[in-house]
Amino acid sequence: MKKRRPAAGRRIAAVAASALLAACTEAAPSAPATTPTHLDRDALMDPETCSTCHPNQYAEWAGSMHAYASDDPLFLAMNARGQREAGIGKFCVNCHAPMAVRTGATDDGLNLAELPPKLKGVTCFFCHSVKEVTGTHDNPLVLANDETMRGEYTDPVPNSAHRSTGSHLHDRDLRESATLCGACHDIVNQHGAQIERTFAEWQASVFSEPSVGTTCGQCHMDQSTNLEPAADAPGVFARRTHDHRFPAVDVPFTGDTRELDARVQSFLDTTLQSAICVRGAGALTDVRVILDNVAAGHAFPSGAAQDRRLWVEVSAYAGKELVYRSGHVPAGTSVTDLDDPDVWSVRDCLLDADDEPVHMFWQASSFESNLLPGQATFDQMDPRFYQTHVEQKYPRGDAYLSAFPDRVSVNIWLAPVGLDVVDDLVASGDLADGDELTVAELKARLAPRALGAELTWTPDTAAPSFVSDGLPMSCITTNALNFRADTVPAVNHERCVP
Ligand code: HEC
Ligand code: HEC
Ligand code: HEC
Ligand code: HEC
Ligand code: HEC
Repeated sequence: MKKRRPAAGRRIAAVAASALLAACTEAAPSAPATTPTHLDRDALMDPETCSTCHPNQYAEWAGSMHAYASDDPLFLAMNARGQREAGIGKFCVNCHAPMAVRTGATDDGLNLAELPPKLKGVTCFFCHSVKEVTGTHDNPLVLANDETMRGEYTDPVPNSAHRSTGSHLHDRDLRESATLCGACHDIVNQHGAQIERTFAEWQASVFSEPSVGTTCGQCHMDQSTNLEPAADAPGVFARRTHDHRFPAVDVPFTGDTRELDARVQSFLDTTLQSAICVRGAGALTDVRVILDNVAAGHAFPSGAAQDRRLWVEVSAYAGKELVYRSGHVPAGTSVTDLDDPDVWSVRDCLLDADDEPVHMFWQASSFESNLLPGQATFDQMDPRFYQTHVEQKYPRGDAYLSAFPDRVSVNIWLAPVGLDVVDDLVASGDLADGDELTVAELKARLAPRALGAELTWTPDTAAPSFVSDGLPMSCITTNALNFRADTVPAVNHERCVP
């Protein structure tokens, strides 16, 4: 059976000698310097300036996590705590409000409330001024500061606000573009622990291969289906534009988030393929759940995987009786509170120098991880093809169900941030009720999402059974997962609660 290829992107165009990080890759400015008079740097730093001519990009960005990155109350609380406990200085704001750092307006992010909005978040000016990528983590991006906006067009129409130039770093169809995103989407903390690894995971996956790969932008910035003007300005013609909402997991806590929310949900619904297998007979029966991360161009979850809570809920029934259950998390609690030795919880655990589990970035000396890996190959003949089929046995170890089930259901849940992390910030005094948002409201916004529809196995709906290691096994999948193929056993946390 064929794995579904992510629908989102076109293939990356092969770029001659495009070593990643051979980064100063701007096309020669093909447009003549436009009008000699254009806005100054100060005016161009303000996203409001862009909104008059680029209303779509502006509106999409304004509702995105990039715009919200330094307004997020969880960010503000964690940063404040990091300053007090570890004096982490610019570390966090360098990614969450890079223009505030680059203009010298902040050294620690503690004065963000007093700063003008144009310096907050990951702004238009920041991304579109990048001229060079000098590293792979912790935002080593170099800005040109030359009143020139860099984009994917090599033939930009001149305008009165800014000069324009085409840039390989800003063209989602070129592999180099991933180095711009990746430079911030990978974090190494002051103890050398690589606590967020989205870029490194992408580089290790098939998605970074020149001929078949897909860039960050090809999945996270949808291309317009129609040709349309990229600016409300004289002389422009219709072309392809790109969505600036950047959907993934988070949505802002306040404001109208319905559009982003719907995109996040549909993205999440198609990220994993799953199967349920019931193996054995009578009193020697167990359940297997197989998950395959088919659509993320990196591990899943990725990035802030120390705060994400992804887990599998399994329920097995014999008649009306519940004979087995794992991963059932009561509303308003965290999966980490469960007393459930079988729970399959997929996340990073941060560990301090004494190997004790901790929640905060700066406390981590190492981490323990069991993320679902990204695809290593699209070639079914390659043994690595099935290395992403991760299998968990229920109950764990040598145990069996108390009876042969006639129904098994599986739900996959994702909470954007664990309530245990929120409680930790409340307990340290860094997060409290705000004017716009109470802690209770914030927690409600972190309620888990179901990923896709519930999958149910019954003897009648399952595919014909086959023999696996001497025992009959019968499986169901709602999608194309090849459950008869090889799997790898799930990695389970040892040094922290799941
Ligand atoms: C006066 C109108 C106007 C304003 C204000 C304006 N732009 Fe533009 N921008 C244009 C036009 C016109 C184009 C060319 C579009 C085309 O060629 O299809 C353009 C092109 C671009 C491009 C693509 C460049 C390329 O070569 O690919 C980017 C990126 C861009 N603008 C960003 C911005 C940002 C960021 C701001 C705010 C700081 C901004 N613009 C403000 C009119 C404007
Ligand atoms: C996280 C980085 C990032 C931020 C923030 C960002 N952009 Fe972009 N933008 C891009 C990339 C990358 C492209 C090129 C997409 C592609 O490959 O064609 C792009 C393309 C564009 C274009 C060309 C037309 C199009 O839609 O493809 C314009 C105009 C533009 N951006 C304006 C803006 C404005 C205005 C803002 C702020 C309101 C903004 N951008 C914020 C990364 C960013
Ligand atoms: C200046 C650093 C920076 C750059 C460059 C950058 N990002 Fe981000 N990005 C962030 C930060 C910070 C957040 C998280 C904001 C938050 O949650 O508070 C984020 C959030 C996101 C999210 C949403 C994550 C979620 O869980 O909802 C996506 C998707 C994303 N970025 C993709 C991209 C892509 C694609 C590019 C390149 C075109 C890019 N980013 C460039 C810093 C950056
Ligand atoms: C093949 C498509 C694809 C590619 C390529 C891709 N992503 Fe993703 N990304 C996804 C999917 C699917 C998800 C998971 C669904 C979701 O989060 O809604 C995701 C999730 C994310 C998240 C949220 C992770 C989390 O669990 O908190 C971030 C941040 C992100 N991607 C950034 C990037 C960056 C940066 C790159 C390039 C280095 C990239 N992505 C490349 C498809 C892709
Ligand atoms: C190298 C750039 C970078 C640095 C440094 C960084 N972040 Fe982030 N942060 C990101 C990106 C990218 C995301 C989105 C990741 C994702 O969605 O998986 C993010 C997401 C977040 C989120 C939202 C998701 C969550 O985990 O709750 C919070 C809060 C946050 N960061 C706080 C911080 C704090 C506090 C610091 C400093 C201790 C910090 N960040 C340092 C880039 C950075």
